[in-house]
Amino acid sequence: MTTEPAPFHSPGTPDDPWWRHAVIYQVYPRSWADSTGDGVGDLPGITARLPYLVDLGVDALWLSPFYRSPMADAGYDVADYRDIDPLFGTLADADALIARAHELGLKVIVDLVPNHTSREHAWFQAALAAEPGSPERARYLFRDGRGPHGEEPPNDWSSVFTGSAWTMAEPAVVEDDGHGATRVVRKAQWYLNLFDSGQPDLDWTNPEVHEEFDAILRFWLDRGVDGFRVDVAHGLVKKEGLPDFADRADMAGTNPDGTATSDAPMWDQDGVHDIYRAWRRTLDEYVTRRPDGSIDPDGDRILVAEAWVEPIERAALYVRPDEMHQAFNFHYLNAPWRAADLREAVEESLHGNDLVGAPTTWVLSNHDVVRHASRLGFAPGTPRPNGIAADDPQPDAEAGLRRARAQTTLMLALPGSAYLYQGEELGLPEHTTLPDEARQDPTFLRSHGAETGRDGCRIPMSWEADAPAAGFNTTGEAWLPQPESYSGLAVDRQDGVEGSTLELYRALLRIRRERGLGSAGISAVPGTPDDVVAYDLQGADDDAPRTRVILNLGAEAVELPQGDVLVTSGPLDDGRLPTDTAAWVAPA
Ligand code: NOJ
Repeated sequence: MTTEPAPFHSPGTPDDPWWRHAVIYQVYPRSWADSTGDGVGDLPGITARLPYLVDLGVDALWLSPFYRSPMADAGYDVADYRDIDPLFGTLADADALIARAHELGLKVIVDLVPNHTSREHAWFQAALAAEPGSPERARYLFRDGRGPHGEEPPNDWSSVFTGSAWTMAEPAVVEDDGHGATRVVRKAQWYLNLFDSGQPDLDWTNPEVHEEFDAILRFWLDRGVDGFRVDVAHGLVKKEGLPDFADRADMAGTNPDGTATSDAPMWDQDGVHDIYRAWRRTLDEYVTRRPDGSIDPDGDRILVAEAWVEPIERAALYVRPDEMHQAFNFHYLNAPWRAADLREAVEESLHGNDLVGAPTTWVLSNHDVVRHASRLGFAPGTPRPNGIAADDPQPDAEAGLRRARAQTTLMLALPGSAYLYQGEELGLPEHTTLPDEARQDPTFLRSHGAETGRDGCRIPMSWEADAPAAGFNTTGEAWLPQPESYSGLAVDRQDGVEGSTLELYRALLRIRRERGLGSAGISAVPGTPDDVVAYDLQGADDDAPRTRVILNLGAEAVELPQGDVLVTSGPLDDGRLPTDTAAWVAPA
């Protein structure tokens, strides 16, 4: 008698709330659909294209920031959290988008940027106009500089976008003492900006900041949004005294050798958790209940943390039952293309979140990282680049796409919630030859080109091969130029085409839903060869269908188990699963 291995993550129940298994599609508003033809995407453009997301089969969309902003960091520098930037439309357009999405059965998650405001935010303008030590300055992290005149930054922190994390707000005030010498009346004052100088960091020890963000949450909850993706969730609280930290303030909190800088004074301080507990209480006031008082599984509003925190046990603290609902899991995204690393990422991620009873999230691409269809085109183990420029080594596009389809096929089989980034369902590559003049990422600008930055993954979407700007709009304008390959990958070139990446995603999402994979239990498959990743997925009921996902990273094709092949990420080789290919099978 053979005994089945016990699941290392238990199945959910039919009453699980939506966010425990949802597939969420990230729309980058600048680049999805442009209704005005000015070259920048907008909210009415998104609303008009929402049926595409229903056909794709996702549950929700997350919108990167659309707030009023001078766009020093593509909208992650918010000047008014309660208004829409004219580039994207109006508040009425946001209301229409939310209403239409709900009509279509899609949830809407918006981006919340609480670590910093824009320099043009009314609070920061008031702070600049006010005196050092004033209540206006106390909303931000203003400090006197070091050195006799305060001419040096207050500490040695560097910005995530390179350069110092401090910007001088005003020079020293120096007086002539009447005896031929000078006297420093006031030292130069600086403000902290962990990102661009257009993004001053707020001081979260100030209760006024807490009150303001609670009011902002309520503003959007009242407008009907289903949740918030919380930008830089691990950065809001800084270590008391802002002590020096010689390393670069890398967003991921990692040293150059990849180890975690758990002592980084700007990241992952214990104080952040009180903020999220308070926010959770606010969101819970908005949960919809059934007539019998029980919580409607469809009625939760959620918080999802963007927290680049290692190890997984620390990341899990953000999703304890009284804090956020989800946290992005960058472990899977960062895993090298090797079976042992992928297995480790999957199993550790589930284990870490299970410790606190939270669902795991899965993500492979977003607006900050090289698209996975290109990233995976480098030799396994190549460190993740911050952008790819024309004179850098270029990825192998074919291998990259094959692996991307395979890793997505593994990802969408896994229990938990998965995030897709616009265009990955078309297999869009990174733009790797973008001319320097076109680049807009502050990382590129601040580092004078030493860091390529993130523009290459933010290129406008490709809808219709033969239309201007591949159907992004009708004028052909595009804030970042599309590479030639984009039109051949347009939606209309893939729609209904067997074997296309778009049809693969549609099939995966349909089968995932039909077979309840998002809330399945998961167990290892005994006897799996070293260079193969294989799991069995099964729901709680005895008669729930069993699904096996198999990903082959070895050089030789492997046999599939007996049973129905439900979907494959690429063609089989005489019924066998070739290298860099994944399949879902209903075992006989
Ligand atoms: C993370 C966002 O995803 C990124 O795009 C942005 O530049 C930084 N946070 C700063 O807000």
